This record gives sequence, C-alpha cells and structure tokens, in this order.
Amino acid sequence: MGEIALSQVKKSFGGVSIIQGIDLTIADGEFVVFVGPSGCGKSTLLRLIAGLEDASSGTIAIDGRDATRLPPARRGLAMVFQSYALYPHMSVRKNIAFPLRMAGVPKAEQERKVEAAAKILNLVPYLDRRPGQLSGGQRQRVAIGRAIVREPAAFLFDEPLSNLDAALRVSMRQEISELHQTLKTTMIYVTHDQVEAMTMADKIVVLNAGRIEQVGSPIDLYRSPVNLFVAGFIGSPKMNFIEGAEAARHGAHTLGIRPEHIAVAEGGPWKGVVGISEHLGSDTFLKVEVAGVGTVNVRAGGEVALRYGDAVALAPQADKFHRFDATGKAL
Ligand SMILES: Nc1ncnc2c1ncn2[C@@H]1O[C@H](COP(=O)(O)OP(=O)(O)OP(=O)(O)O)[C@@H](O)[C@H]1O
Ligand SMILES: [Mg+2]
Repeated sequence: MGEIALSQVKKSFGGVSIIQGIDLTIADGEFVVFVGPSGCGKSTLLRLIAGLEDASSGTIAIDGRDATRLPPARRGLAMVFQSYALYPHMSVRKNIAFPLRMAGVPKAEQERKVEAAAKILNLVPYLDRRPGQLSGGQRQRVAIGRAIVREPAAFLFDEPLSNLDAALRVSMRQEISELHQTLKTTMIYVTHDQVEAMTMADKIVVLNAGRIEQVGSPIDLYRSPVNLFVAGFIGSPKMNFIEGAEAARHGAHTLGIRPEHIAVAEGGPWKGVVGISEHLGSDTFLKVEVAGVGTVNVRAGGEVALRYGDAVALAPQADKFHRFDATGKAL
C-alpha cells in the first residue's frame, strides 16, 4: 500500500516560508509528478514526504498512519536522486543488495530479490561489474534497483534523469513508466520538464512559490488550465497570450491560444508577417507579427514553406481560446 496524504504542510527555512500550506492526497498506485519552475519547492516537498526535512506544521499520513514525525527509515519509502550515489568499489550486485544487507536480510533472500530487480531492470548481464564500468542510464537503473529491493510503499524520484543526454532521457522515461506498470507501486516524481510531466503522470501537481496552482491529469491541465501560470507552464511550445483590444473583443483581459490551434489559412482573420520560421520537417514553427494582436507563435505542418518576411493569414480555432481575467484566473 502507498497512500500518502498531506494536510496543511508548511515549511520555513530560517523564517522564510518555502512551502505554504499543501493539501494533497496521493492514491495507492498512482504516478504523481510535481512540476514547477526552479526554486518553487518541489525537492523540499518531496524531502518532507521522505522525512529528510521536518515539516514546520501540518501532517503527513502514509496509509492512514500519521508519519509526520517518523524518521525516514520508518516511513517505508524509497528515494531515488539525480546523483545516484553508488558505491564505486562495490559490484552492481552488492550495490543493489546494500539496503538489504543493512537491514540484516538473510543472504538467500538478498540474492533472490537482487536477481528479481535486475531482471525487471535489464541489469542481469551487469551484476558483477562496478558502477564505473556502466553507462549513465545503467547506473541510474542500479540506483532504481536499490530502491526496488526494499519493496517500498512508494518511490520518490527527484529529477532522476537530469544528468542524462536527451535520447537517454526519453528511453529512461519510458522505462520508468513501464516499471510503474509492472510494480503498480505509488511513485512521486519531481521534474521541471513539463514533457516528462505530461508523458509519465497519472496526476500532475503544478507548484509555484510553494503553493499548488492546480492538480489534475495531464489532459485536464492542457485543456483546462485554471490560470495563466498553468496555461503558460503546461504545453510546448507555450500558449500565446494576447492582451488589448483583441482580448477585450473576446471578453477577456488576456486571451490564450496554443500554437497548435492556429492554422495558416488564406482569408484567416489575423493578417501578419513572418518573423522567424523553423522548419523541423515534421512541423514548422512560425513567429508571426500580427497587426492589432502582437507576436503569435504558430505550429504549422511540415509542408508549410513560409519564410522570413512573407505575408501570412492566420485562423485561430475559435473553440480553443482560453480567457483569463485581470488577475490571471481562467474565466
Ligand atoms: N536547507 C535549506 N535552507 C534554506 N533554504 C532552502 C533549503 N533548502 C531549500 N531552500 C530554499 O527553498 C526554495 C525551494 O527549494 P527546492 O530545492 O525545493 O526547489 P526546487 O523546486 O526543487 O528547485 P529546482 O528545480 O531548482 O531543483 C529555494 O528558494 C531554496 O533556496
Ligand atoms: Mg529540486
């Protein structure tokens, strides 16, 4: 089991309030991603759940039991960090078995659990190597293996892929998703990469300055952001924000429209001139200066051959507009 419930959790460092009162329930087996800009408190919140930091106030319950004052070792959670901190002089086998050895688990059972974890993580051929003889992705898998053998109630990941190159990040991201499908254990995953959040999460928690801005499934957050912050954070390329007369015409202080919801269309109502055009083959990203609207980013098809200085007409999809009031709240 791995249900985690936070109630009014607050944390200050030296009088500075960093976590501002978090209420959040994570269901058993859920894959939850904490996402937000650098410094918003993602790692701190994860460390509070792990017990590596003490909450200034509020409660943290694990499987219905108050764990607020429990030391990390008694919370039954396993943390996987960005720097994987493997023991360089120990084999992969010994590294994975380490927490079991510390807990005095009998040798045969250690062996069995290490083999099972190695199988899940495709590490069987590497068990007798040392960390220095592994790739970055393999090392990260060893660190995950060390967490798996503990059979935790939940896995806590803090930006586990940020040391890896782009291609490896994509494949490790898929491996962690598969691991979740295999183990069905609660996972909390911290990242500032909204693509990781969108692709991995059952539920995304968007944090900003120590507060929750919105909690929801990836598609909920994409379709129905509750405010400008979430609208601008979720989705890539970013949503366009338009102010002034064009927004007022739609009954909003700020009008939002995603680049993929604007078509290049002859006779479209927005007349503009192409500034930057990026031809990726699959897509064409345009930055267009539209009279009376401003600069608009457009995600067009790969076949669109527009270039710098070309005149273009754009047609935003009317049912895809997001409207926000002067305080940034969705209308
Ligand atoms: N031990 C500490 N003492 C004082 N301030 C701290 C401490 N740990 C974190 N902070 C501050 O708390 C804030 C949140 O930090 P945290 O590490 O949780 O951010 P984060 O969202 O994980 O950022 P990043 O994406 O850069 O990892 C930051 O302003 C940080 O400087
Ligand atoms: Mg962090």
